[in-house]
Amino acid sequence: MSTNRTFTMIKPDAVANGHIGSIINDITKAGFKIIALKYTKLSAEKAGEFYAVHKERPFYNDLVSFMSSGPIVAAILEKDNAIEEFRNLIGATNPAEAAEGTIRQKYAKSIDANAVHGSDSDENAQIEGDFFFAADERF
Ligand code: TYD
Repeated sequence: MSTNRTFTMIKPDAVANGHIGSIINDITKAGFKIIALKYTKLSAEKAGEFYAVHKERPFYNDLVSFMSSGPIVAAILEKDNAIEEFRNLIGATNPAEAAEGTIRQKYAKSIDANAVHGSDSDENAQIEGDFFFAADERF
């Protein structure tokens, strides 16, 4: 299994607030190569499927309705040690706790609308990338 890829989404809050360009700039400046990129919108059903692992959590319903509330940008990214490097770049789940200069600290306002997703393991990066991208959409 590859350890040099991760999957990200720019979430509806960051898209609505006009941060797509700045976030992609931060990502590429940090040395990530874009392997796949898509501007799309999740249905509630698809968002529920993507976040199925959180089904029993109290925030699940709000998370699903938020993630299907507007367009998102999905991407597969490549860099050595991609999972950890990308999670360092985006910062803590709660932007109030995210380190200075991280994407969530700069562009997110709350724990539920926190600007970006980043895969938490190689296995999930593979599953999440496959959720959005066919083989002929990756370069
Ligand atoms: P989680 O996987 O814990 O965080 P991360 O995105 O940093 O890997 O949670 C997934 C998403 O669920 C998180 O990005 C935002 C949402 N969430 C809430 O809305 N409230 C919460 O209390 C938590 C922990 C997460």
